Amino acid sequence: MRIETRFTWIIAFCFCFGVSIAGYISYKLEARHAYEEVKLKADMLLETALSVRAYTVDEVAPVLKTINGNEFHASQVPSFAAQNTMHRLTQKFPDYTYRESSLNPTNLADRASDWEVGLLREFKQDGKRRELLGETGSGKDRHFYVARPIRMTSTACLQCHSTPDVAPPAMVAKYGPYNGFGWQMGDVIGLQLVEVPTAPTQAKAFNSVLVTIGSLTSVFVLTAVVFLLLLKRHVTHPLELLTRVAHAASVEQKAGDADFPSVGGQFGELHQAIVRLRSSVDRALMLFERDSKRNDKHDDGQS
Ligand code: HEC
Repeated sequence: MRIETRFTWIIAFCFCFGVSIAGYISYKLEARHAYEEVKLKADMLLETALSVRAYTVDEVAPVLKTINGNEFHASQVPSFAAQNTMHRLTQKFPDYTYRESSLNPTNLADRASDWEVGLLREFKQDGKRRELLGETGSGKDRHFYVARPIRMTSTACLQCHSTPDVAPPAMVAKYGPYNGFGWQMGDVIGLQLVEVPTAPTQAKAFNSVLVTIGSLTSVFVLTAVVFLLLLKRHVTHPLELLTRVAHAASVEQKAGDADFPSVGGQFGELHQAIVRLRSSVDRALMLFERDSKRNDKHDDGQS
């Protein structure tokens, strides 16, 4: 096998090995970045919703109470404020969703779906669990979700969620006396659920891996081509010349030095050495022939 072919195979093997490892590492890193990015987005949405809830309780509800007394106004309801704000936000980013759902909701639109009921059960069973996360859907509709439990931690909530007779009459008139009551302190009464699309982040990660592999391939191919050209010029070509010199020296009468272009560097020294070896062999042969002729004459004289 020619030297270039042998080197090409070795370089190709090293390239495949190197690129597979680099590609794998890059894929792992990008996948982790993608996950962190999606998780951060989900966390920010959840925290935004929680901030709106807190703002409503701390700032809006007291002002409304001063102005309207005990009159009920939906703007004072933390869940209404949070869902309403997030609804406006998700209208601009339709792939994102935010929901607060419950097994026994005040607003029937907030009734937990079968899947959400499963999440709520997990929160109820494990009192210490603060978050559930994972992925749902497939293909372009694949979403990363984060769910957090809503627990009854404040007695202020009981005003509207204990019994209908304590709740503001206007609220009972609007939502009815059957839903969203009977909640107990400390209970997991609902959950916050945010869904973030994973396709754009995954596409970004995939592109980054492609760019890494593409740039590595270009650098490798360029280096390999330059290396093989240099190998041909400085090693294979002089070697071929030397082989011809050695061949000529071994089979032809003359060393044929003049017929071959001069070879530089270490190959040049080898070239000279072959030519010298050939002339030494020629001289030795000449001496040997002369001696054997003289011996023959001597033998003839004696006999
Ligand atoms: C002034 C009355 C009022 C107070 C106080 C109140 N809520 Fe509500 N809550 C409501 C109403 C009304 C809704 C339905 C809002 C809507 O239309 O989406 C609701 C909705 C909810 C929901 C969404 C599920 C559902 O029932 O539709 C959760 C969860 C919730 N509230 C939890 C709480 C918690 C926790 C507190 C205490 C921090 C609290 N609420 C305080 C009136 C109240």
